Amino acid sequence: MGKIRDATELDAEACAAIYTPYVHDTAITFELDPPTAREMAERIARAVRTHAWLVLEDDEGRVVGYAYGGPMKPRAAYRWSCEVSIYLEIGRRRAGGGRALYEALFERLAARGYRTAIAGMTLPNPASEGLHAALGFEPIGTYRKIGWKHDSWHDVAWSQLTLATGEDPPAEPT
Ligand SMILES: CC(C)(COP(=O)(O)OP(=O)(O)OC[C@H]1O[C@@H](n2cnc3c(N)ncnc32)[C@H](O)[C@@H]1OP(=O)(O)O)[C@@H](O)C(=O)NCCC(=O)NCCS
Repeated sequence: MGKIRDATELDAEACAAIYTPYVHDTAITFELDPPTAREMAERIARAVRTHAWLVLEDDEGRVVGYAYGGPMKPRAAYRWSCEVSIYLEIGRRRAGGGRALYEALFERLAARGYRTAIAGMTLPNPASEGLHAALGFEPIGTYRKIGWKHDSWHDVAWSQLTLATGEDPPAEPT
């Protein structure tokens, strides 16, 4: 496996290319139109500013996956909780990339003062369910028939992980 590093806006095209087939061909994401590289660059910049966006490179230095955190909800009391997402290029599976990216992401988010990560996954998604369980996420519950895509309704399961504990009141995320 290659290395994991912080993303920059220069990774936007690679990240958009990884994400596009999931938008077109699956209900893993509920987006219907793939973001352009420009839009992806904005998403990366926003995540880097407040949370984190990491990319996984293969041995040749090509970006083959990414993971990022963002706000869970805009209301102020939620600000120690983040929502996380992860995508590897189609076909790159079970070689440890997902775990490595997520572990690095969670370390980064914890260091910034975030306490909790939450993740939502469209069902079924054995790889995602397996990865989140393997990393210690606890199931919270499932929204039934919550999204309509590709001519059918989809359920979304949510789970949560404690990133860090500490003194309360919690310090502001930095
Ligand atoms: C989900 C995803 C990131 C997993 O990445 P990965 O590199 O294949 O996962 P890893 O090799 O790091 O696996 C780590 C652990 O997760 C679990 N896991 C991974 N794939 C699994 C599968 N298909 N079935 C069951 N468990 C699985 C296992 O416990 C695994 O540990 P092990 O291989 O030692 O048994 C990858 O499959 C992916 O990009 N999928 C498409 C996008 C997606 O679904 N993203 C999540 C949206 S909610």
